[in-house]
Amino acid sequence: MKENLKFYGHDTVALAKRYGTPLYVFSANCFHASVEAIRRAFQKTKLDVTIHYAGKAFLTKAMCKLVAQEGLHLDVASGGELFTALQAGFPAEDICFHGSNKSNEELQMALDHRIGLIVIDSFDEIDRLTNLTTPEDRVDILVRIAPGIEAHTHELIQTGKVDSKFGVPASMVPQLMETLQELPRFQLKGLHCHIGSQITETEGFIKAAEKMLEIYAWIQKNYGQSFDYLNLGGGFGIPYLPQDPCIDLNALFTDLGEKVRDLCTEYDLKIPQLMFEPGRYLAATAGVTLYTVGTIKEIPGQKTYVSVDGGMMDNPRPALYGAAYHAEICNGKDEDKPVTVRISGKACETDTLIDQILLNDPQVGDILMVHATGAYNYAMASNYNRLPKPAVVLLMDDQSDIISRRETYEDIVRLDEIPSWLED
Ligand code: LLP
Repeated sequence: MKENLKFYGHDTVALAKRYGTPLYVFSANCFHASVEAIRRAFQKTKLDVTIHYAGKAFLTKAMCKLVAQEGLHLDVASGGELFTALQAGFPAEDICFHGSNKSNEELQMALDHRIGLIVIDSFDEIDRLTNLTTPEDRVDILVRIAPGIEAHTHELIQTGKVDSKFGVPASMVPQLMETLQELPRFQLKGLHCHIGSQITETEGFIKAAEKMLEIYAWIQKNYGQSFDYLNLGGGFGIPYLPQDPCIDLNALFTDLGEKVRDLCTEYDLKIPQLMFEPGRYLAATAGVTLYTVGTIKEIPGQKTYVSVDGGMMDNPRPALYGAAYHAEICNGKDEDKPVTVRISGKACETDTLIDQILLNDPQVGDILMVHATGAYNYAMASNYNRLPKPAVVLLMDDQSDIISRRETYEDIVRLDEIPSWLED
């Protein structure tokens, strides 16, 4: 009998048995290795770089602790993410707050806790923040600009185009500067842009940096203002399938650093500290999902369906973006008997997780591991079909701990209320 599949030294079948399935498993060792890899790549810029982990990819209180332990800053994009970070005791001054439609309550929470930076996304947000502050207050801000760059990625995750709900269009920078001149309570530390997610080509990032520095030069010329920071967002893609391309971060950051230094010389600008906000690059490959195979149907003349005990509720990405994943059977088998199958979820939908994949002799009761689910899986999970969300287990060396408990049916009905007129 061959050995069971291991994930960072842990027997995946044993993990499934101990914690149940479906199960999200996240490796702190892998996360650490990715942080180190991106740090080394950022050094190629030969510039000062701050890394903000994008919490939207995957955030729990333990994750906030891990991010702090790695010496990273944190990007949050909602009151819920901010609350999670504050509850975990994440240093408020290292938090940067995003969002295209932040509410008064969310902004107030950010102000009350004096978080590091608020990234303003619109003129309406300037109005809201003005109403929440006094002329004597000082609030450090960045403003998100839509630089008008089309990143090569899925349309739904392109976020830097002119026609976008995110940020202030580059053409409205003059109006923005006029508005902010009247409001010295807002200390404009720099500008931000984020062109999209799961980008594997380097060109878009370079173009975005060019555009942003062009704007910096215009602002310096017209307002005599120079900036401490330039935040170029996240979006670095990862290989989901063994044959997928991997973004060449060393090449990207060598070129990007050179471009920033050259343009700052050309425009006579102070070289800003660069900020990046990787989410997926740091979290995706650190996570896997373990499922139990429940039903196998061989449809004559068609295909074989392998149904697992999770689906679009724990991983909506295939349904939303046509995202592709790689998977393997975890149980050690005596011989290799590869079969081509479709992996389906258990939702009342055609929730295909993987359209076509070779699995080694899948059997009912086997454990299946889907790779690279550490980003935007737990974070985007739902209770569709009133299914409880899986637990999350954190692996560190040979230790494993639950960092988010499995939901129970009690949790499913916890917030339900029955109006008196419906009571028996
Ligand atoms: N910074 C900002 C302002 C962002 O909007 C995002 C992602 C990031 C950083 C992090 O991007 P990353 O490095 O993770 O690509 N749910 C989609 C991804 C949406 C990303 C939204 N913004 C997916 O599952 O592919």
